[in-house]
Amino acid sequence: MMGLRSVGILATGSYMPERVLTNFDLEKMVETSDEWIVTRTGIRERRICSPEQASSDLAYEAAKKALAKANISAEELDMIIVATVTPDMPFPSTACILQEKLGAKKASALDVSAACTGFLYGIATGSQFVANGMYRYVLVVGVETLSKITNYEDRNTCVLFGDGAGAALLGPVAEGYGFRAFELGADGSGSSLLCQPGGGSRIPASAESVGQNLHYISMAGKEVFKFAVRVMNSATEAVLEKSGIHKEEIDLLVPHQANKRIIDAAIQRFGLSEDKVAINLDRYGNMSSASIPVALDEALEEGRLKEGDNVILVGFGGGLTWGATLCKWSTNEHV
Ligand code: UT7
Repeated sequence: MMGLRSVGILATGSYMPERVLTNFDLEKMVETSDEWIVTRTGIRERRICSPEQASSDLAYEAAKKALAKANISAEELDMIIVATVTPDMPFPSTACILQEKLGAKKASALDVSAACTGFLYGIATGSQFVANGMYRYVLVVGVETLSKITNYEDRNTCVLFGDGAGAALLGPVAEGYGFRAFELGADGSGSSLLCQPGGGSRIPASAESVGQNLHYISMAGKEVFKFAVRVMNSATEAVLEKSGIHKEEIDLLVPHQANKRIIDAAIQRFGLSEDKVAINLDRYGNMSSASIPVALDEALEEGRLKEGDNVILVGFGGGLTWGATLCKWSTNEHV
């Protein structure tokens, strides 16, 4: 049997909507304060898409940038995976809509539903096709238009979420580089802790379901917080152990951006200095599946990653789900 190819991220791209919603704007909308939001979450502002924009529109902009950086045309894509909880519509998949927009005619296309862990589930899935030689280029996009399912009368949730898109192009890299380990997990017993209760087959959309706000995000914040701290640590430890890397050798940690206090717990646990952690939640809030790829793209743009660095991506979210990967960084495509 042929050995598996090494797979890495060849290029990234991101797109953020222009409109900024600050904590001070939210003070005028619900009973909250900039002080509460900053001290409890670390968030100062977030981006909100226009009413005309759907997730595929944001995904398209991020995907174009990733393809341009890699100098790959959309026609060369073998597969498109979109991770999102805010698809353009329940079906067809947002990946199919993106495939058409990009003109990626030969690409297969599917959406991944793993909430905030969606990007990690997406790259773990896509990389298998590159590793076994079936595909060469897989585009993975984490995109959310959470403002469309956020209740701006509920202070428990509306201060947290934002919109955005991040894309990563996966392809073969030199042996020993790229993804060294993945850790994925799920605990469906916590499915009701973070969900959008209405609009599916359990509670189909109706005037009544909308009247009861069941089409909005519902979250048990405290429970999710405790879970998040626990699995961020255990998933990070798992990929360190699987790849034989010590925590002192971590060059960059790119965590899901839900709450600065959750990130701080990981920083303490692994003894990291803040310059080894990518943080953007102060500017963008929690963008679910888009948080990690946008933070990764920004870190790259800022020159914070070089060939051979050990990068950990780690996330958690609705499902409940969690995931992490350790990547020995290289954007050099293996021919
Ligand atoms: O990405 C998916 C994963 N999601 C997460 O990881 C989110 C995890 N959870 C969290 O980040 C935090 O639990 C929250 C930021 C959501 C909430 O912070 P908390 O420190 O757990 O606050 P709390 O829910 O215990 O609320 C404390 C108080 C409550 O008032 P009482 O009952 O103590 O009088 C809330 O009603 O703060 C109140 N509160 C607010 N006050 C001002 C809740 N939201 C707000 C608000 N502004 N926006």
